[in-house]
Amino acid sequence: MHVQQQVQLKHLNTLNLNAIASHYIEINDSNDVVDALAFAEQKALNVLVLSGGSNVLLPQHIHALVLHLNIHGIDVIDEDERNVTVQVGAGQVWHDFVLHSTKQNWFGLQNLALIPGLVGASPVQNIGAYGVEAGEFIESVQVYDRELKQFSSIGAADCHFSYRHSIFKDHPNRYIIVAVTFKLLKQPDLKLNYGDLKQAVGDVLTAENLQNQVIHIRQSKLPDPKEFPNVGSFFKNPIVTQSDFDKIAQQFPNIPHYPQPNSNVKVAAGWLIDQTGWKGKQLGSVGMFHKQALVLVNYADATLNDVRNTYQAVQSDVKQKFSIRLEPEPVLYNEQGLIQAHGE
Ligand code: EPU
Repeated sequence: MHVQQQVQLKHLNTLNLNAIASHYIEINDSNDVVDALAFAEQKALNVLVLSGGSNVLLPQHIHALVLHLNIHGIDVIDEDERNVTVQVGAGQVWHDFVLHSTKQNWFGLQNLALIPGLVGASPVQNIGAYGVEAGEFIESVQVYDRELKQFSSIGAADCHFSYRHSIFKDHPNRYIIVAVTFKLLKQPDLKLNYGDLKQAVGDVLTAENLQNQVIHIRQSKLPDPKEFPNVGSFFKNPIVTQSDFDKIAQQFPNIPHYPQPNSNVKVAAGWLIDQTGWKGKQLGSVGMFHKQALVLVNYADATLNDVRNTYQAVQSDVKQKFSIRLEPEPVLYNEQGLIQAHGE
């Protein structure tokens, strides 16, 4: 185990925020986790687990032990006529795993192609796109439980997956995810109900074509983090009550919305932001992307404060126009390496 000090994390977070970690360890297999945690305890440091860095907001200085999860491997652990069960190391690149699954004729994840980040982060916010969520195909999550001080496996039902949420969000410091086990299909069951996906796929009803169309749609709207540093959707799509929705819809009948259970309504945050004139607009070095208003971009050498100034201005304009509070999606860390609530 090699402890590094004063490590620049700029290239380990897709928003390219300057962030120096006081202590840093690369985790290459699950045994390293135990040693690293012992080191953190001895030095009285908090532990920040950095996965692909595609959904985090980091301050300029972090006095904590940053663990970079680099555990690899894709192992078939069970198989029958209908399903294949595959255990994947937390450090495997998500998109590479999706491409691999399609090549192997393992079906289910094709709608989730090109989502940035690593496999270990996929259960945390239950990544989702084009009508599919990772949680639908997760059988269990292999973790080190810091409370019980042991490795364990958490079944999908106990992960409480919902829209961009899971128990890993409720207990952010308790579990270190070392692998994720997926139960995939051996026969394709293409999910084409989202937006114009059906039209894009056309007559070529194969998983490979579905995957290619998803990649194409994402590339046409979402900025490549290498060119325009970003963390994907910056805000969650807000969920409002039916009566609040009815009031807004009276004034804005075209508002894109999706009915939810318990007579709630999910509203498209990108549309709300677009309506306030923020699409393609910048405040200093940070702005909302010109092709998709939901994506915040670091156009120059922004700090977390610059990011905060822009997103709070967006929140305030949306609040004023629609009386809806947008909740940021990425995880915000403080200088002690702990997850912090996004303020009002
Ligand atoms: N819209 C606008 N202007 C914009 C952006 C969107 O009017 O600038 C409208 C669109 O026309 C559409 C609606 O808003 O009617 C929804 O937009 P879109 O279909 O692009 O999806 P989204 O709600 O913006 C969500 C996810 C994405 C995911 C896509 C596809 C959230 C917060 N975001 O975006 O996830 O890829 O659906 O499923 O749920 C991510 O989480 O990082 C992410 C990219």
